[in-house]
Amino acid sequence: MVINLEREFIMIKPDGVQRGIVGQVIQRIENVGFKIIGLKMITVTMQQAEEHYAIHKGKPFYNGLLEYITCGPVVAMVVEGKDAVKITRKIVGATNPAEAEPGSIRGDYALEIGRNIIHAGDSPENAIVEYKIYFDEEEFTNYSKIDEKWLYE
Ligand code: RTP
Ligand code: MG
Repeated sequence: MVINLEREFIMIKPDGVQRGIVGQVIQRIENVGFKIIGLKMITVTMQQAEEHYAIHKGKPFYNGLLEYITCGPVVAMVVEGKDAVKITRKIVGATNPAEAEPGSIRGDYALEIGRNIIHAGDSPENAIVEYKIYFDEEEFTNYSKIDEKWLYE
């Protein structure tokens, strides 16, 4: 069993928290077999938001995006698993819920691009950059899960 583990950074945005679907979103991430190694509820500061979304600075939706992500508590998490980024992005669905497939989180729970429930890093490198904004390495737990020998060949 050689597992090439990857880490993915996920955030349930303020609308996901307000709409009471934190459990359902986390359930979908757990269902596929990912291991949660870090999980917390926080309110994103403006400084963290600017760092997180630096790539979008100058775009028409940038200010609204910062306002949205800082407007209330979020749930930030880091998961580990094979192809964690690629598979999480599929579970999350297209950025615009109108384009997101039914069965994806955005396809099933959201209507608008500016209220799309969840964030997930778009590459393994970006996921690391992003989780470092919100987590210290000591906050991650190191443990084995009993299903690993059945998830991986
Ligand atoms: P995210 O970073 O939140 O996981 O979403 P993503 O990769 O699918 O999309 P990205 O292009 O990185 O955009 C980041 C977030 O900005 C908001 N957005 N609004 N109004 C607009 O045209 C627009 N475009 C993007 C969305 O909340 C998107 O998730
Ligand atoms: Mg993105």
